[in-house]
Amino acid sequence: MRMVDIISRKRDGFELSEEEITWFIQAYSKGDIPDYQASAFAMAVFFQGMTQQEAAALTIEMAGSGDQLDLSAIDGIKVDKHSTGGVGDKTTLILGPLVAALDIPVAKMSGRGLGHTGGTIDKLEAFEGFRTEMDQEEFVHLVNKNKLAVAGQSGNLTPADKKLYSLRDVTGTVNSIPLIASSVMSKKIAAGADAIVLDVKTGSGAFMEHLEEAKKLARAMVDIGNSLNRRTMAVISNMDQPLGYFVGNALEVKEAVDTLRGNGPEDLHELSVTLASHMAVLGGKASDEQEGRRLVENVLNDGTALEKMKQFVKSQGGDSAPVDNPDLFPSAQKQVEVPAADSGYVSRMQAARIGQAAMMLGAGRAAKDDVIDYAAGIELKAKIGDYVAEGETLAVMHVNQDDIKAVSDMIQQAYSFSPSEVEKPELIYDSI
Ligand code: URA
Repeated sequence: MRMVDIISRKRDGFELSEEEITWFIQAYSKGDIPDYQASAFAMAVFFQGMTQQEAAALTIEMAGSGDQLDLSAIDGIKVDKHSTGGVGDKTTLILGPLVAALDIPVAKMSGRGLGHTGGTIDKLEAFEGFRTEMDQEEFVHLVNKNKLAVAGQSGNLTPADKKLYSLRDVTGTVNSIPLIASSVMSKKIAAGADAIVLDVKTGSGAFMEHLEEAKKLARAMVDIGNSLNRRTMAVISNMDQPLGYFVGNALEVKEAVDTLRGNGPEDLHELSVTLASHMAVLGGKASDEQEGRRLVENVLNDGTALEKMKQFVKSQGGDSAPVDNPDLFPSAQKQVEVPAADSGYVSRMQAARIGQAAMMLGAGRAAKDDVIDYAAGIELKAKIGDYVAEGETLAVMHVNQDDIKAVSDMIQQAYSFSPSEVEKPELIYDSI
């Protein structure tokens, strides 16, 4: 086979065979295909798209390009969840214990955050001593014991995707639905789950700003998962504003613990329960979402899920005392208010800017090797639909540094106001 023929066929809108896609990924992984040809291929896909069969072939080949977790020693249907990334999204910390409390094994591989969205592992490390580096044997043991474990992503998971993604990042080809869908799903397949619930975000803080695009991405990922024998479904949720009221690692864990106590904000509670209910269905414990929801609400209300959180944190070396006494979480030296620059109903929030502001306070990384300040972050006092008067507090910065004027300005600029009332946005648009 010649790469130039594959590129030309894709450019001209033909469907590539499984053999052609397999050959391309294997040869590219070995270094036999130069980046300029792989870039041309990605650009051809960007313009011509891919059929469902092509995307599935790309997924399976990238999934098989490195380590693949063998979770067969874990009893039960392993259900994974993936979010396409959002600001203040701490749902994994809530639905992990919720689903595990239903006796459904959750074996979660997770990453660290980069840029405006935080990673689950960074959040969990707000528990002193929490450890996510473990070998497969320990991971399997912990899931069998607690029904829940979170491990750092293996260094060699889907190297072909890593290589292709880096190239897409610098060639204007990230934003292609089949390429995103196969990239995400290759990692989920390699991570070994039997069933997958996807939370596809749309809005100002999401990768897919527009609902129609988010739906297409969700459909593409669900089709890939199901065609590869992983029961897969997707929820499409709003990310026009951060989820909950807190952005930043320890602050988000605290809010997640509040939610597991039944005292969380409505949007965070609702999304966590919805996703967990779907996981209960895919995990074989409920026949439909309503039954799943009943089961999930039960383990939330009777404290089982909160106990599960403590057991999980302790088992991974963390100090679980802050779950009972949130004052023990790392806290920042200063809390600085951000006043509203205008009066009116909050009509729009640029969620990505709030995420960037939290990162600048030390809650996230601008570069891979940056060190995180677990205590730093932002507490929102107003979200879309709320009325604020000029000078009233919009947000509070939790901070251990002095030079924060630019961050305060950024938070102010993330808000827009309207003189007339604004409806609260819908949280969940659809499920596929
Ligand atoms: N996230 C991924 O993992 N892959 C993409 O292509 C885009 C976002």
